[in-house]
Amino acid sequence: MRVLVTGAAGFVGSHLADRLVADGHAVVALDDLSTGAEGNLAPARERGDVVLVRGDVRDRGLVAEAVARADAVFHLAGAVGVARVAADPAGTWSRNVDGTSSVLSACAARGTPCLVASTSEVHGTSATGVLAEDDPVTLAPAGRRDVYAVSKLAGESLAFALHRSAGLPVVVARLFNVVGPRQSDRYGMVLPRFSRAAVRGEPLVVHGDGRQTRCFLDVRDAADALVALAAAPAAAGLVVNVGSDEEVAIGELARRVVAVAGSRSSVVHVPFASVYGDGFVDPPRRRPDLARLRALTGARPRRRLADAVADAVAHARAALEPAPAGPGR
Ligand SMILES: NC(=O)c1ccc[n+]([C@@H]2O[C@H](COP(=O)([O-])OP(=O)(O)OC[C@H]3O[C@@H](n4cnc5c(N)ncnc54)[C@H](O)[C@@H]3O)[C@@H](O)[C@H]2O)c1
Repeated sequence: MRVLVTGAAGFVGSHLADRLVADGHAVVALDDLSTGAEGNLAPARERGDVVLVRGDVRDRGLVAEAVARADAVFHLAGAVGVARVAADPAGTWSRNVDGTSSVLSACAARGTPCLVASTSEVHGTSATGVLAEDDPVTLAPAGRRDVYAVSKLAGESLAFALHRSAGLPVVVARLFNVVGPRQSDRYGMVLPRFSRAAVRGEPLVVHGDGRQTRCFLDVRDAADALVALAAAPAAAGLVVNVGSDEEVAIGELARRVVAVAGSRSSVVHVPFASVYGDGFVDPPRRRPDLARLRALTGARPRRRLADAVADAVAHARAALEPAPAGPGR
């Protein structure tokens, strides 16, 4: 098959491209490289047929052309990361709402199957239970963090509108926290940020009291789940959680990173608002109900949190070491 992956030069998208190429598909990667990197696609390019189209998913003409040549679409492009949302709320809205509208409209016009990446953030900051797909959500449009959640929820809503009115074969994958190789610490992602600090002997900065919990899914397991969902006919018209149910408190995660790194770093706490400004709230808990994903695909993560911590620390350590000198230097 010929598969269009938007956001394929990013963290999750590049692992998805790796997986699709390994399965024998030809991948067209559409990405504006705003946060992604061409280098992320190097393994997929080495293994097979990947074409990178550098462009913006809000460019409807470009997207229509790319969708016309695709048998299936995975739409992952968007603005992601707490730090980025805080720095550019209007850009976040435009990338996520206008970009998703552009991709879904092109898919609906041709009946091209599409998987849309959404986020657990749509549950807002106050939900505390195990989160199931059909739980009602509570969002505060004026809340500074919620622009990301509302923009992603708008994409979900359009997907279902086009499913009902135009028969668009679409599935919405709500990703919970994903970790693994190629995740950048630039936009506030916690595990790479902790790992970098630990290997440098710098304090690990925990936002809030550290009792807030998260569940981290390895990105390769996430890519497997996305491929399985796109291949499950019964998933069409549904929202499906994609995540891990291995829960850890962020303060405990910091201590595990320090231990794995063999570091002398301290763990310090700062109020969340002092990092991202007043009105930025960190949700107390993010744990997905995975029953729907399992029923539809049988998918189960192969990698545990301990593997992710070891990987992240190894990656941070490798990034510290100077590149080996070439011959004659
Ligand atoms: N990483 C996570 O833990 C996580 C959790 C929940 C949801 N998600 C969702 O998964 C998707 C991928 O996230 P990620 O973590 O890989 O982020 P990422 O920033 O690494 O990837 C996003 C990619 O989209 C590209 N992009 C952004 N705006 C674009 C535009 N207008 N046109 C073309 N390309 C554009 C970026 O250059 C980047 O390569 C996003 O839709 C995100 O909302 C990720």
